[in-house]
Amino acid sequence: MDNEGKNSGANVVPSEAEVAERVENLMGRMSLAEKIGQLTQIAGTPLFPGPEPEDVIRKGGAGSVLWLNDTKKFNALQKIAVEESPSKIPLLFALDVIHGYRTVFPVPLAMASSWDPSVAERAQAVAAKEARAAGLHWTFSPMLDIARDARWGRIVEGAGEDPCLGAAMAAAQVRGFQGESLGAPDRVLACAKHFAGYGAADGGRDYDPVYLPEGRLRNVYFPPFEAAVKAGVGTFMSAYMDLNDVPASGNRFLLRDVLRDEWGFQGFVVSDALAIGNLVIQGFARDGRDAAFRSLSAGVNMDMASDTYPQHLAGLVEDGTLQMSDIDAAVRPILAIKVRMGLFERPYTDESRLAQVVARPEHRQEARLAAQRSMVLLRNEGRLLPLHKDLKNVAVIGPLADSMEATEGSWMVFGHTPAAITVVEGIRARLPGARVEYAPGPEIRREIGSFFDDMPWAVKKDPQTAEQAEAAFQTAVATARSADLVVLVLGENADMAGEFASCTSLDLSGRQEELLEVVLALGKPVVLVLLNGRPLSIGWAAENVPAILEAWEPGSEGGHAVADILFGDVNPGGKLPVSFPRSGGHAPLYYARNLTHSPEGGRMYRSRYWDCPTTPLYPFGFGLSYTTFAITNLQVAALQIKVGSSVAVTADVTNTGPVLGDEVVQLYIHQKAGSDSRPLRELKGFERLTLKPGETKTVTFNLGPAELGYWSTNLGKWVQDAEAFDIWVGADSLATLHADLEVIR
Ligand code: BGC
Repeated sequence: MDNEGKNSGANVVPSEAEVAERVENLMGRMSLAEKIGQLTQIAGTPLFPGPEPEDVIRKGGAGSVLWLNDTKKFNALQKIAVEESPSKIPLLFALDVIHGYRTVFPVPLAMASSWDPSVAERAQAVAAKEARAAGLHWTFSPMLDIARDARWGRIVEGAGEDPCLGAAMAAAQVRGFQGESLGAPDRVLACAKHFAGYGAADGGRDYDPVYLPEGRLRNVYFPPFEAAVKAGVGTFMSAYMDLNDVPASGNRFLLRDVLRDEWGFQGFVVSDALAIGNLVIQGFARDGRDAAFRSLSAGVNMDMASDTYPQHLAGLVEDGTLQMSDIDAAVRPILAIKVRMGLFERPYTDESRLAQVVARPEHRQEARLAAQRSMVLLRNEGRLLPLHKDLKNVAVIGPLADSMEATEGSWMVFGHTPAAITVVEGIRARLPGARVEYAPGPEIRREIGSFFDDMPWAVKKDPQTAEQAEAAFQTAVATARSADLVVLVLGENADMAGEFASCTSLDLSGRQEELLEVVLALGKPVVLVLLNGRPLSIGWAAENVPAILEAWEPGSEGGHAVADILFGDVNPGGKLPVSFPRSGGHAPLYYARNLTHSPEGGRMYRSRYWDCPTTPLYPFGFGLSYTTFAITNLQVAALQIKVGSSVAVTADVTNTGPVLGDEVVQLYIHQKAGSDSRPLRELKGFERLTLKPGETKTVTFNLGPAELGYWSTNLGKWVQDAEAFDIWVGADSLATLHADLEVIR
């Protein structure tokens, strides 16, 4: 039996009653200070001056440690907790493991482009296995914020604009991280974040206030979170920003009324980092004491690193502002999770395991598969792709073509050293006998740096001078000129999307667009590969560059996966989880918007702008293949159904082209009238299928009260109207295959 087998032997799932009994036993022994310790998460790598973590832990002053990634140190700190602290309660070690620990998977926006929840589930299971082997117990993932504004940098961390796709990806990731039960070996506790509404920040500016009516919250922003609760997620993270003028980390409506009372969430809530203390800066709490009181009362169990709970909760209990029962209620779910995870029985990590676990070839294989399934073919004029494998002379051009950082993308774990296969490397590996020349062209960089630039591991590099940039530009053009075919790899550096990474323009930054245009003018066949964390407004390329592959930030095996697709070993089947705007001024943009009294294409409006079409550059759900598909024979099992009942919707999909390929069949509805105005289309089901040439499969969807009902603003409650519906099934959100359905009383 290997090490893994030995560890996994101890997976005993305790009963509810047993957990409750053990928690009460512990609580009976704990002082108020220790209880507050359990509500406190401290930085393992202190960002600000303060006591040493060891000293805090020894006194029972911490329930969890974050921002540390060091197996030996985890064991050393755990030893202090379980041997020296008063009640000997083990610590939870937590970190942001967003899309891989050592083996890096595509960023979450890319994984959502697979429209295949099993891709995300398997990826997060590998991430969990590696993270757990490192000694981590808890990841701050999945990020479930619906994002409809591509200016917002954190769009890269989520599943895009749609609640139906977002909910499927949410549940899959929770299953991947947590496995069958919280005590599962090789798994980690997941955290649904950032609850809620964060993606709708005013102007796409990170952390800015959010104004979302309750209907929009419930119909669009909540479903991925509710899906995470149903999938058994152990923890939630409260967001930073003001939601309708109440900060999410002090928001009782979110954290108690909805999360606990309506959805029955039994786990615990951690604040976002420093969020409780920041309620003062935010202009909500009067001082730290007020902030501690309001967060705890609103339902935040654990204070992430702001030191506000440990400073103020005891005083609040002593003067009677809070009751001991308030503290107990906050502590219980934290202890319950520690019991369920088996931390009391297995507090330590075998330090010899990590090296073997992260070296497993099957992890790289999963990463390559996930990257292949995540890429979206946006254009392929004249069937330039797939490329011939007998190409002799290729130029690979662009600032991202050999960038491991851009290939892995944003949100690496603390202290990670980039180690991806880049696009140049992937192409070279595929064309061993050919000449593959590489030239980066001018560098791209953020105009305003971020907080992460000050981190100890940040690599500092002086900016290129204008002369150096010009020389790099000319070298790139000369390299392209001497090749038979050019692959341009453009997009964003890893630090251009993510937290602290909003922007106003969605154009290719720096001199990338210029380089693209000059290279294209050479008259060579050109393939554009995009590495980026958000939709970019590539309008010129969309009309002029024959082949465009949206590869996103594809992870450790990204370069191989790009080559797999470019050379036709893999047929691309990903679809966009976000609409592509035509410019930054087009954001926010999403397909599920309401009609107006004067819709585009009607009597009066051609576009709602006079300088740009209203339509997206590429619609939600869009993606091409090397084969073709026909979706036909749409059948709704009944023309009329009663409120509360369900109906099956079927359609046939046939591979009408020459090669094996995947199609994502999508079901959309529109309710024609009702208690409220409803979006002109809403995704209600999807399935990704693989079909041989000539093969036909039938897809079946179900439409019932969950799909046909909604939260009505007009009535202030959940409703299902007896009304007429349009139904479409197709290959993207512009699907034309139509049927009618009537819902009656
Ligand atoms: C981010 C969270 C993250 C936390 C801990 C915050 O700044 O908003 O997404 O989980 O830091 O690193």
